[in-house]
Amino acid sequence: MLNPDLFTPKSSSSSSKILSAAGIIVSSLAFRVAISVSAAFLTTYILQHRSTKLQLKPNLSKVREKLKKDGRNVPLNSHEISLIQECIPEDINVKFDDIGGLEDIIDDLRETVVYPLTVPGLFSGSSPLLQAPKGVLLYGPPGCGKTMIAKALAHESSATFLNVKISSITDKWFGESNKYAAAIFSLARKLEPCIVFIDEIDSFLRSRETNDNEAMSMVKSEFMTQWDGLSSGGRIVILGATNRPNDIDAAFLRRMPKRYGIRLPDLKKRIEILKLSLHGTTLEEPFDFEKVARHMEGLSGSGIKEACRDAAMIPIREYFRDHRKKHGMKFVPTEENDALKTRPLRDSDFFVEWAAKKKDDELDDLE
Ligand SMILES: Nc1ncnc2c1ncn2[C@@H]1O[C@H](COP(=O)(O)OP(=O)(O)OP(=O)(O)O)[C@@H](O)[C@H]1O
Ligand SMILES: [Mg+2]
Repeated sequence: MLNPDLFTPKSSSSSSKILSAAGIIVSSLAFRVAISVSAAFLTTYILQHRSTKLQLKPNLSKVREKLKKDGRNVPLNSHEISLIQECIPEDINVKFDDIGGLEDIIDDLRETVVYPLTVPGLFSGSSPLLQAPKGVLLYGPPGCGKTMIAKALAHESSATFLNVKISSITDKWFGESNKYAAAIFSLARKLEPCIVFIDEIDSFLRSRETNDNEAMSMVKSEFMTQWDGLSSGGRIVILGATNRPNDIDAAFLRRMPKRYGIRLPDLKKRIEILKLSLHGTTLEEPFDFEKVARHMEGLSGSGIKEACRDAAMIPIREYFRDHRKKHGMKFVPTEENDALKTRPLRDSDFFVEWAAKKKDDELDDLE
């Protein structure tokens, strides 16, 4: 016989209570599982994201050692560590002596920027006006040595050099780029004396426009506030380089009062750059540097270097042509049978390409 109690309203309400309690337990369990799975995903994603920024390079240990040696055992936050990895160059081997024709600018930079940063005691007795400027701008046409000067400064001054790239401070997480911008300055303070170099600064500090995205304008204002916060007499200088000075926001330009125009080299400077570029190349005497430099009018330092490379190829081409004549068209040079024994470079080699180009121009004129 069936128990009639089972079908009474009382028993049906208790079973529905049990069912609903079970439902609550299951849904709360499912909720907890979902939360922990998404937390796990999020953590992995953040860790992966961080680990790309924090690839361990030797820079960090070097910086920590330096801080320890100077008795400045300051803690570094994750943004500062990330910047150390990305912005402190490991090996720079450009020296001031490698730069031709810019001695006046280099001397001025040494006296007004490097020495006040690195030996402030020299200047402290005199006027407070003699402190390093907070901002310095190198501007001028492409290929004239702006980046080279900055690299040589990094190599030859004892200041810490932070080579800030825009990619190292832009972050897809909202608000993170701001923290990187602030970290540039906090890190510079910890590592002072410090030169913060921003190459192609126009791309970062270009005129603020209404169509700037919100994140970028926040970064710019953070940068400006931090820059203003540099104490006068501090040992931090922002060094910018650009070939488009007119694109830089006027407010930022004002913060770089010391400006050096690095123009196309004149004859004297071209001769110096030519001599530097040909250093280590065997030249045929007499070699008329002035005649060659005269023909290089309008070329930048980098153009002169390229012209030297083109000219240096001429004896090599001659050498291979001679060998093909002697050994046939199938001649293939190998290291054993042919250590390159080319003739010295002549000043006339610099006119071969021009002579050919001139002929082309004459042909164009005829047409
Ligand atoms: N004054 C110079 N003396 C010797 N080499 C030079 C000089 N100027 C330029 N060069 C040569 O040209 C190359 C490019 O120079 P650099 O990168 O400094 O130019 P830049 O002024 O920064 O140009 P850009 O505005 O395009 O960045 C150098 O690596 C060097 O080989
Ligand atoms: Mg450059």
